[in-house]
Amino acid sequence: AAENVRNQAMSSHAVARPMIAYKSGPLTGEAHVPGDKSISHRSLILGALSVGTTTIKGLLEGDDVLDTAKAMRAFGAIVTQHAAGNWSVDGVGVGGFCEPDTVIDCGNSVTGVRLIMGAMATHPIRATFTGDASLNKRPMARISDPLALFGAQTYGRSGGRLPMTIIGAETPTPVRYEVPVPSAQVKSAVLLAGLNTPGKTVVIEQEATRDHTERMLRGFGAEISVQINDAGREITLTGQPELQPQDITVPRDPSSAAFPVCAALITEGSDVLVPNIGLNPTRSGLFTTLREMGADLEYENERVEGGEPVADLRARFSPNMRGIEVPPERAASMIDEYPILSVVAANAQGDTVMRGVKELRVKESDRIDAMATGLRANGVTVEDGPDWWIVSGCGAQAVPGGAKCASHLDHRIAMSFLILGMASKNPVSIDDGSPIATSFPIFESLMASLGARLEHSQER
Ligand code: S3P
Repeated sequence: AAENVRNQAMSSHAVARPMIAYKSGPLTGEAHVPGDKSISHRSLILGALSVGTTTIKGLLEGDDVLDTAKAMRAFGAIVTQHAAGNWSVDGVGVGGFCEPDTVIDCGNSVTGVRLIMGAMATHPIRATFTGDASLNKRPMARISDPLALFGAQTYGRSGGRLPMTIIGAETPTPVRYEVPVPSAQVKSAVLLAGLNTPGKTVVIEQEATRDHTERMLRGFGAEISVQINDAGREITLTGQPELQPQDITVPRDPSSAAFPVCAALITEGSDVLVPNIGLNPTRSGLFTTLREMGADLEYENERVEGGEPVADLRARFSPNMRGIEVPPERAASMIDEYPILSVVAANAQGDTVMRGVKELRVKESDRIDAMATGLRANGVTVEDGPDWWIVSGCGAQAVPGGAKCASHLDHRIAMSFLILGMASKNPVSIDDGSPIATSFPIFESLMASLGARLEHSQER
């Protein structure tokens, strides 16, 4: 069954799917968004590194995560889909990865490939990794550099890009590594490499990035501690634990929730409830920002589930939002949400200033360039520099629209422009909606159920 899901996903991904969004609204009803992408990847990987059966409920069945499931099978785990969202992983244990007999293709998923490279780099095996055109452009030296310190050898293309072969360390040595860019993926790759390394691996990050790896490693029984000191967050992991299989319920993804929430805020008359959203402070920066802009966004039924703060989000049309200066120190907690924030900013009054965001230039696409180009084509004024951009709002329901935008193999760019079209005077189209399946395979049907007017356009 899992293979079927994968094949469907692959076939939907192979062909470009031009789409168009028309002025919509009001958007009403409940939006049940899929499971968290970050936690889904980690559930599969940590399940594979445990001895015994990990069960996972609410796994995101997007292309990115399915590619990680496939990779875990290639390294020797038994990964089974039992029903929609219900999976199990029979793990091989820390140190138990076997050498894959084919190239590991992670598709569009940099999270998948970076975490898996970390996990395998301290096993005495070799593996070759590749991905799609977007993934094979992305910087991987930020992963191969620290993995070399453990004793792994890495051979990538120029600029440290994929495809890349890793010869895992035979006798890994623990490292103390200060992450040079704010990146949960780099932090996680180093921690996962530290699992099969004797002694203590230490990772220091100046700014807190999403902490799912630390929380989940603790949950799986690893000895891991976090200290806050002058250098930032210092995380210490004791290597070679026997990880205990877990029963995991994946929370719903705040980064996916961002799309129906923002669509409701900018679409006349809307009132949408997005239930069960994780509000881990390392992920919830967008919602804080929206409230500062004057969004009618309420947290209902606030509670703690599985150690994480959770709430139902209620978003209503907010015609009087104002641009703000987003604090740069908040960037890590909303790094995937800047594209959709820029769409809200276009529908607010005044300037929204976003600084300290150079990481946006090396995501699935150069997200500043992709959004700035498409917003300008739709009549919005945007200025940008190496690590900043400013969107000058047109006010509520006042974006001219009417242009076609390139999604650059980037799911979040594709979804952001479709939502722009729902609130603009004229329809907004995208050249390719197929990447949406990487993180939010039900986006189209879910948005349509709220009242969004989305269509597949014939034009290529
Ligand atoms: C992720 C970390 C972030 C984020 C990505 C998912 C993760 O990337 O952009 O979508 O699951 O660890 P960086 O850690 O590179 O900032």
